[in-house]
Amino acid sequence: MSEKVILTGDRPTGRLHIGHYVGSLRRRVELQNSGEYKNIFVMIADAQALTDNAHEPEKVRQNIVEVALDYLACGIDPEKTNILIQSQIPELTELTFYYMNLVTVARVQRNPTVKAEIQLRNFEVGIPVGFFTYPISQASDITAFKATTVPVGEDQEPMIEQTREIVRKFNSVYGETLVEPEIMLPEDESCLRLPGTDGGAKMSKSLGNCIYLASDSDEIKKKVMSMFTDPGHLKVEDPGKVEGNTVFQYLDAFSNDDFFAEYCPDYRNLDEMKDHYRRGGLGDVKVKKFLNNVLQETLKPIRERRHEFEKDIPYIYEVLKKGTEVSREVAASTLHEVKDAMKINYFDDRALIEEQAERYGNNPVGAANA
Ligand code: TRP
Repeated sequence: MSEKVILTGDRPTGRLHIGHYVGSLRRRVELQNSGEYKNIFVMIADAQALTDNAHEPEKVRQNIVEVALDYLACGIDPEKTNILIQSQIPELTELTFYYMNLVTVARVQRNPTVKAEIQLRNFEVGIPVGFFTYPISQASDITAFKATTVPVGEDQEPMIEQTREIVRKFNSVYGETLVEPEIMLPEDESCLRLPGTDGGAKMSKSLGNCIYLASDSDEIKKKVMSMFTDPGHLKVEDPGKVEGNTVFQYLDAFSNDDFFAEYCPDYRNLDEMKDHYRRGGLGDVKVKKFLNNVLQETLKPIRERRHEFEKDIPYIYEVLKKGTEVSREVAASTLHEVKDAMKINYFDDRALIEEQAERYGNNPVGAANA
């Protein structure tokens, strides 16, 4: 088996939505089932969530189980994937403290994702130090498990780049110890970022423009039927725009030819449907009904599995505990190597003690208590 290791994760600040599904969850399940990875770690990044939710610990705490339920509902299998809770692995924090010495303040300030988040969170008035250092903590998450492969969305690219820099710096200063990870972006353009149902750039709970993995079928239908399309496409006969049209962006991410055969046999595939829409003569309602069918069929089994798992919450915590324990051993072993490399392993370092004892003219070490 290969030596490839995956690590990825999510902040538990809310239920996961279908943007997470096409952007990462669907792929994680495929990767998990591919058998190509020696080890897979999926992290619930509660400590990172607290860097910008310090005053809402209850929100973070409640959402851990929600995210875990969403994972299991999508097909993440605890027999094959370790699901872990970040805060319960103190080795990660310890690594962060050492990596901080290898990164400048200016370098973190240049990180485009950090910059955007500072604006979004109104942190311009005062940036919490913990928040500021989260890219370094994310480097610990990745390197602690010697991850070779980090499947994430494009917004995480600066974090992976930062991690790679830390790895190179660490290895050059202290000797070859850490593994430089590669980012794995979604294969499909359309899955890079699914817009909100209102056409807004991002799905966000506060804007009410999300479809959740746990959404029921009425809610899905309501969101689809009120979805943003092409504002210039007023009458059915009008030519319509497909680019920037949310309904088509969702179809790009979710539909396939089998769905056309089943629900919309007028077209063989999405290209034919798009052509008709561009020419004029295809109404929004028909396209939305098709999208609704596609989403209903895709999300129903996920929602049903979620309901099954919801019946046994203690089991979910067992899964998390087990995944965290297994993961902690791996992180502890990496931390041990890191401390060896950094020469902060004083009590294990017999040679150090002997050399200093000799310098001070002690009796041969061990002789004193003979
Ligand atoms: N920053 C990621 C997010 O906001 C979550 C995360 C934390 C993560 N640690 C990670 C992702 C390590 C990949 C690898 O979604």
